Amino acid sequence: MGLAKMIQFNVLGDERGQLISLESNKNVPFAINRIYYIYGVELDVRRGFHAHKKLEQILICTSGSCNVLLDDGIKKQVVRLDNPTIGLFVGGLIWHEMYDFSPECVLMVLASEHYDEADYIHDYERFLKEERQ
Ligand code: TYD
Repeated sequence: MGLAKMIQFNVLGDERGQLISLESNKNVPFAINRIYYIYGVELDVRRGFHAHKKLEQILICTSGSCNVLLDDGIKKQVVRLDNPTIGLFVGGLIWHEMYDFSPECVLMVLASEHYDEADYIHDYERFLKEERQ
């Protein structure tokens, strides 16, 4: 099975345009405690380079496009996010890197917890060790 768990959101569109609604524990499979968004990233920049112990997140490219590399310590998968109706679920102990941001990219992230530096694993070898346990 692939690493990427994609969520297709229902689009409430009509002749005036499109609308997507995101609700905790409904179309988002956790209670949202934090939302952040990344934008204005130069083309040759790579971000992320970490895993989380527990945090669950959904990445949505609301504008433009970017690539996300997912790695569970055994398999790697690259997902291209270029559609505001699709969310990429990233759970705990998944190493991830984001790159190839288009100039207009806005990457919005819904997170299950408040920001907590203690939940981060920045060291790839440590990530592999935690993954094996
Ligand atoms: P960073 O973790 O480097 O971003 P990325 O995952 O894209 O590589 O985050 C940049 C800075 O912002 C860093 O100092 C941590 C801080 N930050 C917060 O204060 N709150 C947050 O919710 C996030 C995601 C980051």
